[in-house]
Amino acid sequence: MYIDTHAHLNFDPFIRDPQPYIDRALQAGVTRMIVPAADLASSEKAVALAERYEGVFAAVGVHPQDAAAVPDNYLSLLASMLDHPKVCAVGEVGLDYYRRYAPRDVQMRVFREQAELARSLGYPLIIHNREADDDTFSLLEDLAYFNVQFHCFGGDAAYARNVIERGALVSFTGVITFSQKAREVARTLPPEKLMIETDCPWMAPVPYRGKPNEPAYVVEVAAAFAEIFGRSVEDIAALTTATAERFFRLSQT
Ligand code: NI
Repeated sequence: MYIDTHAHLNFDPFIRDPQPYIDRALQAGVTRMIVPAADLASSEKAVALAERYEGVFAAVGVHPQDAAAVPDNYLSLLASMLDHPKVCAVGEVGLDYYRRYAPRDVQMRVFREQAELARSLGYPLIIHNREADDDTFSLLEDLAYFNVQFHCFGGDAAYARNVIERGALVSFTGVITFSQKAREVARTLPPEKLMIETDCPWMAPVPYRGKPNEPAYVVEVAAAFAEIFGRSVEDIAALTTATAERFFRLSQT
């Protein structure tokens, strides 16, 4: 059994008719999927999907892309969504200096406020970090809150070790099926600190490059880990599932 810890079923093309994608995921052994949000509307969609599908769990939050557009009451709206029993995390939140979605100070404020919300209510945090290693790290260090998953990890081994030492977990997408650099980084890390995700509809793994990604393909990420760590894919499935169950506080199957 696998858990896809980052599947945007609340986005196109999935949201129009999620059923076939969920069916294919189940057939592939991907029994649970975490659906992270990017803004308030996609947070609500994630919650609705979690209500409708047994294996779907939601995260709610505002991505740096939408940091400049948050209404004044967004934190209380997120807090009330977090009350839902199938909402398991705050995310995805963070900093993106590659795309410069919003001014850095706005991104920092919205990231900090949501990290504080997660900390105060005791929820794990899903982090989007692109070209913002130092600010991401210092903000978390400042809050002393490392109950976090670095999603779609793209940093170097030293950074990964640094955040793992403080209690963070690191998640890889299908990039690990074709990027030598990502494989070299993963190889240096303790496998029990890692999670798998698709980040679908983006980041399709080999052999699906150039096609839309979907939750069923998270199996390819597990297969890449199996190769990197010299373990069976069943071992990796069990290990990454247990890690995700602990982090997202899902019941054990
Ligand atoms: Ni994402």
